[in-house]
Amino acid sequence: MKISIIGSGYVGLTTALALAHTGSSVILLDVSEDRIVSIREGRAPFYEPGVDGLLSDHIRKGSVRATMDYQEAINGSDLTFLAVGTPMDSDGRMDASYIKAAARSTGEAIARKGVPHIVVVKSTVLPGTTEGVILPILKDTGATMASIAMCPEFLREGSAMEDALHPDRVVIGCLDDTTFTTLKELFEPTDSRVLRCDPTTAEMIKYASNSFLATKISFANEISRICEVTGIDVYDVMEGVGMDSRISPQFLRAGAGFGGSCFPKDVSALIRAASDKGMKTPLMDSVMLNNDIQPVHLVDVMEEKLGVISDKRILILGLAFKPDTDDVRETRSLPVAKELSTRGGVVGGHDPQAGPNFATLMSDMRIFKDLDEAVDWAEVIILMTEWPVYRNYPFGEKGHLLFVFDGRRTIDPKRLGKIGYWAMGSPL
Ligand SMILES: NC(=O)c1ccc[n+]([C@@H]2O[C@H](COP(=O)([O-])OP(=O)(O)OC[C@H]3O[C@@H](n4cnc5c(N)ncnc54)[C@H](O)[C@@H]3O)[C@@H](O)[C@H]2O)c1
Repeated sequence: MKISIIGSGYVGLTTALALAHTGSSVILLDVSEDRIVSIREGRAPFYEPGVDGLLSDHIRKGSVRATMDYQEAINGSDLTFLAVGTPMDSDGRMDASYIKAAARSTGEAIARKGVPHIVVVKSTVLPGTTEGVILPILKDTGATMASIAMCPEFLREGSAMEDALHPDRVVIGCLDDTTFTTLKELFEPTDSRVLRCDPTTAEMIKYASNSFLATKISFANEISRICEVTGIDVYDVMEGVGMDSRISPQFLRAGAGFGGSCFPKDVSALIRAASDKGMKTPLMDSVMLNNDIQPVHLVDVMEEKLGVISDKRILILGLAFKPDTDDVRETRSLPVAKELSTRGGVVGGHDPQAGPNFATLMSDMRIFKDLDEAVDWAEVIILMTEWPVYRNYPFGEKGHLLFVFDGRRTIDPKRLGKIGYWAMGSPL
């Protein structure tokens, strides 16, 4: 099929490559010139394993192209995915301004083309947005619509390419059989389970999935704090809990909380949307509250163990919200760094990929490029993101270090010699 994708971020670009991989011809569009230039040169505009190789391959073959011109994208395709960002606004609500703008530009180009076109929403949007906001905008432009659909995206950064090529499931929220058949055939080569529903249900499936996973993490973190004061290790507890096939061991690893471009903004948007309809959300309110507690709790324990923070040089290892990405959106390293600074700590940071992005969030923090130099500078280490390079680092040979705090159970305390060690969720 001839496909266009509006928005060339993590979702747009990986979806384009997955569809090109299975035989479609794809035009990517973005309003960011930097992104388009980078894609045309066969370089991913962000760090994501596996993307660069596939991208340069498909750019060379011509199966993926990139443009800033809406008319070129629409004229060269029969079906358009909308994959622009839907970030959190200052009130914690979903900011729909990018998707509204993208829908208007897409509609105007379809109207000028004058041939029936399918539009599929892939961005995460609140229930009712596809039919209640995006479709009216498209109709208002005079676009000749074949149909509209909503297919939420479930990829995980760090394994986005693998997830786009082999998704767990494909949810097709549509209003007619023809659109369902078209989309089912498009995703057929991924050999995934397919669920058909209406667009509003598809939208809610995405929010409910993210809210459930965020709930699991906050639950593990709350149990973790109880374990710490009870003299039990939460990782031993969750190993037993996760053996229950109804529960599964995933998302039960206690730590400093969830970050990233999805969970915090999606749970927050759903809470605000429910509240706007007069509905209370005590469970999800607690999920967010718990997530705010964890970074402060970690710093509280650090202060207790170190006696005083204000004279210490503290190095945060891992600034991305998870390994294998350079994405720092809502990373838990930020509230930890801010809390340590507020209490007078001298804070530095290191990350194999995300240093420059983190510097845009906290410009006064020293960010090291070289790991050895960073560790030599530090007195105290706090591990926030479990990059493999930290796992085998010889911290034990660095006799000047006072203490290692492990937020992700990455470091083997047996290799630390006389250096102090505490891992989140272990007895205090
Ligand atoms: N990143 C993830 O892990 C992930 C996973 C599942 C779902 N999602 C959802 O997918 C959507 C996209 O997320 P992302 O992480 O790829 O975002 P992103 O910020 O990486 O990329 C969005 C892109 O859209 C472009 N854009 C903004 N306005 C535009 C316009 N009017 N026309 C054309 N391009 C425009 C931006 O320049 C940017 O390149 C969001 O709704 C997000 O919640 C993200």
